[in-house]
Amino acid sequence: MKKWLFSLVFFVSSCYVHAQQLAPVPPMGWMSWNYFADKINEKDLREMADAMEQSGMVKAGYRFLMIDDGWQGGRDNRNAIIPDPAKFPSGIKALADYLHQKGIKLGIYSDAAPLTCAGYTASLHFEEQDAATFASWGVDYLKYDYCNAPTDSNTAKLRYKAMANALRKSGRYIVFSICEWGDRKPWLWAANAGGQLWRTTGDVRDKWQRAPGEKSGEGLMEILDVNAELSDYAGPGRWNDPDMLIVGLYGKKGPSGDLGGIGCNDIEYASNMSLWCMMNAPLVVTCDVRHMNDITKRILLNEEVIAVNQDPLGKQAIRKIKGDQWNVLVKPLANGDYAVAVLNRGTEAAIYSLLLQEIGLSGKYEIRDLWQHQVVTSGNKWKGKILSHETRLFRLKKV
Ligand code: GLA
Repeated sequence: MKKWLFSLVFFVSSCYVHAQQLAPVPPMGWMSWNYFADKINEKDLREMADAMEQSGMVKAGYRFLMIDDGWQGGRDNRNAIIPDPAKFPSGIKALADYLHQKGIKLGIYSDAAPLTCAGYTASLHFEEQDAATFASWGVDYLKYDYCNAPTDSNTAKLRYKAMANALRKSGRYIVFSICEWGDRKPWLWAANAGGQLWRTTGDVRDKWQRAPGEKSGEGLMEILDVNAELSDYAGPGRWNDPDMLIVGLYGKKGPSGDLGGIGCNDIEYASNMSLWCMMNAPLVVTCDVRHMNDITKRILLNEEVIAVNQDPLGKQAIRKIKGDQWNVLVKPLANGDYAVAVLNRGTEAAIYSLLLQEIGLSGKYEIRDLWQHQVVTSGNKWKGKILSHETRLFRLKKV
């Protein structure tokens, strides 16, 4: 083989291996934005970490605590980015150390422009210096936003690549999360630019769907309709990110409450979890995990549902049926099983007959309900009642 060709093959395959190592399955964790906005501080974040540990979240796989916008305090006289000393008097490294002792990884946030979305210091032209700073603090994940940057795709690709390269050069494994809200179809280029995940939509609000006449604010259904169509682009080390889970927010507080974010009921929050798991979404909790009720815990900590999301095959579900009322998603799993989700988008409970042949599955299966934790039937069909906005989630094993 010619030398240059060998080097090229080596470079491409090492990028691939690198991305797979960083996020072989969708990242799981908690992120500060939807609940706290920029009103964050080290005390609250430590309490969140304690709660993640005590509630069983860490054991269930939620291994990242991600600080979103608002941590920055400008730059020092050597241009190094620094945290706001009032919010983080002990510094970010001390927080990282605290988390690492608990087996939690630290995520941080910046933006590909001079200022972030909330107007704080960002990383344009300081990519290498900031990446080195993040690495020296022990950061494991970077969400990189795109406010205050030019709208064209070329600039976005260049700016994301610059930060991806800087992260690799820093010598630390840091997951790179691209956040330009799907505006430039990042599913086509973000993996090449060095991202392991990319947001596909605008910010999720704490609502099921837009109310009639409402023109802005993404609800769960607006996001589903974009993200469910992108299954071809996801795989180990490269994930579509339909934004955070709103489970447990109950319309109480934070930016997710803006733009019609009036809150959801628990059936809708369970659908959020089921659908995001089927779509291989990063599972990023945003409610106040210090005060979760039992239902919120049951939704977020269902191991059988999480296993669908974290399945090593890494195939995003295909939406096989997409009517106004019924949506059916099918996701192949590593051991040959299938996960199947049936969503009732209607305003009334209704009976649904699922014929497995209609979703491309021939033969007979044992059908296990992953919310009821029991086998509900065996054969080539399932029929049952589905509440308004409920998602029934099944695991099918060939018999
Ligand atoms: C953008 C992002 C959000 C959040 C805020 C922070 O809106 O999409 O997820 O990070 O910025 O300012």
